[in-house]
Amino acid sequence: MIRVGVNYEGRDPRLVETVLPFADIVEVTPDAVATLRGGVPVIPDETLRELRAIGSPIALHGVGLSIASADAMGGDYCALVDALMASLDVAWHSEHLGYVAVDGQHLGTMLVAPRTEEALELICARVESIRARWAKPFLLEHVVNLFADPGGDYTAAGFLNEIVRRSGCGLLLDVYNLECDAHNGVCDAEAFLDELDLEAVREIHVACGTEDRGLRVDVHSRITRDETLALLQRVLSMAPNVEAVIFELLGPAVPAVGYEAIAAELRRVRAAVDAAVPAKPRPRVVHPPHPHGGTLPLPEHQRAMRDLIRGHAVADDPYIAAAAASTGLDVTRDTIRGWQRFRLDRHCRLTTAMLRRRGRYDDVLADVARGAVSPYIEELSGAFLDAASACGDPLVATVAAFERALLRDDANETSVEWPCDPYPILGALLVGAELPDVAGAPHRTTVSSAIRGRFRVTAA
Ligand SMILES: [Fe+2]
Ligand SMILES: [Fe+2]
Repeated sequence: MIRVGVNYEGRDPRLVETVLPFADIVEVTPDAVATLRGGVPVIPDETLRELRAIGSPIALHGVGLSIASADAMGGDYCALVDALMASLDVAWHSEHLGYVAVDGQHLGTMLVAPRTEEALELICARVESIRARWAKPFLLEHVVNLFADPGGDYTAAGFLNEIVRRSGCGLLLDVYNLECDAHNGVCDAEAFLDELDLEAVREIHVACGTEDRGLRVDVHSRITRDETLALLQRVLSMAPNVEAVIFELLGPAVPAVGYEAIAAELRRVRAAVDAAVPAKPRPRVVHPPHPHGGTLPLPEHQRAMRDLIRGHAVADDPYIAAAAASTGLDVTRDTIRGWQRFRLDRHCRLTTAMLRRRGRYDDVLADVARGAVSPYIEELSGAFLDAASACGDPLVATVAAFERALLRDDANETSVEWPCDPYPILGALLVGAELPDVAGAPHRTTVSSAIRGRFRVTAA
């Protein structure tokens, strides 16, 4: 029987109670359940206990492997998978055929590499090392690309087929990703399915996201559309070895979609899977690839894409020049920034509120985006508070220093000097009111977890 499941990002007892009873398998993203301890990502013991208690088989589905990075795969990511593999009943492990880091610096997004022989050899050698390291099935997922198709020596399907043939991995086919690429004009879905080795597909994703400036993006925030379930059924009628279908929804979208609606969605996916026609073998069609439009070797190509996203120089290369002029670049940058804003609004409430009052939030986020974008909120908020402190507004810098001390959450005392009484300012920021005019009168806040209420205020 094909299992139906959902992804779970941890620490949501209501989802465990209302949704997971309808899931035969649970997808866990190592990066999403990790936290930084001493600057190193780890899976907390309490998370391992929580995931064990679910009792369902787990499919790991990561984002930080970066298998197509020219320099190296994500070592931190592999350590997270080690920890999860050692403690949980993991059915298999999947990742994405893309890169999220260049020279070890995170991009804040996932990009697709040109499908050249150079990239193929690199990826196949890495798949082999992954399969040797964990002795579990390993699947690769084709990812959404908001830029022009990079082309190369292989078509998108032909590249996946060749990775399967050479390395022995399986495939995870995300039918929503395929719809996005078809909608965005980077892939012909019919030609892709005609050519893909559907016998290698072990898992399917269904999801639904949003549209931005005509591009369909894979921010999974909605219930699946009927068309996507129809495509799922078509794929099931051609792919004989599918073991699971997962409905993917980002953790932050869970409250808006609603727990009951997610539970109902799993039942709806189950019904679609059960009603699909059993798969029959079919002949595969080979399509000619179109060559890579750029001239740069893989490492330079990836550095050029990183620089482009960060708003630095545009490399002298036809593919990069076209990407620089594309709507995909604007959508990619805004998506990265939107995620940062979403996370920072929750983690750095005072400083984000202060910057909004001053009309400086976007400038500071733009500063942050020019550097590496850590996937971990602790590092992202550190870079954000640095940028806020350096924005040239003394009161913003004071609020940022105060918030940094609060976030440190240790018993050491940290003093932050204020030009005025901090209470009216903090009160206004917390309730979303306009900043009051406060007379100049130096004050000091002393922050420590050992102080009741976390800080005390004295007139300096
Ligand atoms: Fe994925
Ligand atoms: Fe997916």
